[in-house]
Amino acid sequence: MVRAPCLLLLLLPTLCVSEVVLEPCEVDDEDFRCFCNFTDPQPEWSNAYQCVSAIEVEIHGGGHNLEQFLKGADTDPKQYADVLKALRLRRLTVASAQVPAVLVAAFLRALAYSRIKELTLQDLEVTGGTPPPLLEATGPALSTLTLRNVSWTAGGAWLTELQRWLKPGLKVLNIAQAHSLAFSCAHLPTFLALTTLDLSDNPRLGEHGLTAALCPHKFPALQALVLRNTGIQTPNGVCLAMVRAGVQPQRLDLSHNSLRATAPGAPVCVWPRTLNSLNLSFARLEQVPKGLPARLSELDLRCNRLNKEPRPEELPTVSNLTLDGNPFLDPEDLYQEDPMKSGVVSACAHSALAVGMSGTLAVLQSVGVVA
Ligand SMILES: *[C@@H]1O[C@H](CO)[C@@H](O)[C@H](O)[C@H]1NC(C)=O
Ligand SMILES: *[C@@H]1O[C@H](CO)[C@@H](O)[C@H](O)[C@H]1NC(C)=O
Ligand SMILES: *[C@@H]1O[C@H](CO)[C@@H](O)[C@H](O)[C@H]1NC(C)=O
Ligand SMILES: *[C@@H]1O[C@H](CO)[C@@H](O)[C@H](O)[C@H]1NC(C)=O
Repeated sequence: MVRAPCLLLLLLPTLCVSEVVLEPCEVDDEDFRCFCNFTDPQPEWSNAYQCVSAIEVEIHGGGHNLEQFLKGADTDPKQYADVLKALRLRRLTVASAQVPAVLVAAFLRALAYSRIKELTLQDLEVTGGTPPPLLEATGPALSTLTLRNVSWTAGGAWLTELQRWLKPGLKVLNIAQAHSLAFSCAHLPTFLALTTLDLSDNPRLGEHGLTAALCPHKFPALQALVLRNTGIQTPNGVCLAMVRAGVQPQRLDLSHNSLRATAPGAPVCVWPRTLNSLNLSFARLEQVPKGLPARLSELDLRCNRLNKEPRPEELPTVSNLTLDGNPFLDPEDLYQEDPMKSGVVSACAHSALAVGMSGTLAVLQSVGVVA
């Protein structure tokens, strides 16, 4: 019998009636969440059939190369359109595999008929180029796309290639541990509906990389720009990148960066008037940076190194100011990082830890279990 491409497998139940031997997949009693981990050297891919009625599906490919499924990739999914439409699938994660770009395209083409809303790709190596979509064929109408540690042969063109396979309307785009964020802006289509761009956990990005990633006038609807742990050095540099890109978000998150004072002589920047929430927590600030927006409804300065209470003239006019976890307020916070003494892990103890680490490891490390 014909073996269906593994990624299509859960979408094409009519093709996968082969016997089930191992159980790499588990589905909960409510048929809500289905999880597969194909680590076996000879995985029984058809086990993913179990996930056919789940709403949330997570598939780990055990690092396998999915090239073997290319044979079925040119099947026209239109013939299964009714089955695909009937799927309850809303959230899908595909992780840990090498995938030819052609297969990614075939997969998105099939998902076009489904009602999936959120797609996550994680720890994938995408090889080769993506074919251009057929005229009438577009991919799924996603609201959220998350990519974490995905490498593409296409280099800086990857987002352009990927976006061609999505229906317009994407609202949230998360890109972490990216291999390239230097997009070829000239070819990048406009993200007309995108309200949240989250580039967190790209520690080598910096202001320079941000300027390359924020293609001018491609994000006209942006409301939130999240830049946690992105190697940002000054809020002023982010302001300049935002102005250059013509983005006018309401929320900017610069937490978990090592921020320093704007260098004397740096160009002055006028913040977008829309900005009303600024997150400068866990940023190792010893003083409030100069050149912040004049007026904010929310400013988070939690867990910094402020030794003195900021004077009003140092701060923007702000209705909701958070200063918890700074030494001038919580002197113990600095000294209670040894939980063996205090019995409590300080709320700010995580600040010094590298991000990208799992929460568990971070906690273990902060309590001194892991050296
Ligand atoms: C999949 O299984 C392997 C081997 O048992 C394990 O190391 C890995 O952590 C599992 N992955 C997930 C996401 O559970
Ligand atoms: C990133 O993904 C690759 C597979 O493409 C994997 O080998 C590597 O371990 C992942 N890196 C991290 C930090 O998870
Ligand atoms: C600011 O960022 C920190 C850490 O990323 C987060 O815990 C906090 O909730 C954020 N504050 C606001 C006001 O969103
Ligand atoms: C201030 O911000 C904090 C953190 O985001 C929030 O929990 C709180 O409700 C806000 N307070 C007001 C008065 O807006």
